[in-house]
Amino acid sequence: MRPSTVITMFAGLTVSYAAVIVMMDQCQDGHKKGETWYLANCEQCVCWNDYYYCESCGVQTMVYDHTTCYTKTNDTANYPECCTPHLYCEGDTDFNPANLNLENPAQWERISAH
Ligand SMILES: *[C@@H]1O[C@H](CO)[C@@H](O)[C@H](O)[C@H]1NC(C)=O
Repeated sequence: MRPSTVITMFAGLTVSYAAVIVMMDQCQDGHKKGETWYLANCEQCVCWNDYYYCESCGVQTMVYDHTTCYTKTNDTANYPECCTPHLYCEGDTDFNPANLNLENPAQWERISAH
């Protein structure tokens, strides 16, 4: 098996858990039941009658080769897309070798909530 085949296989093992907070309070900013709104720190809130809950990014583990790939999140996207680490590897159009973390060649990375 070629090394690149192994990397592709591991890159698919992304595990994602959302962190959920429930507030027993009126919905913020006059939001009504069923409405969803987004906060700047990659959170999404949903309004119910007398409470609302907010979800944010959980803990994710990605296994990849740090000598040829790095991950980046899209911080301008809304939850949950802003939680998803995107993998950039040598040969990709948007790849920038300056983003490689060669000092930390461990092959896995834990990405925690904001
Ligand atoms: C990030 O997300 C925004 C909003 O969805 C999108 O317009 C933009 O193209 C994304 N950027 C990248 C690099 O994917």
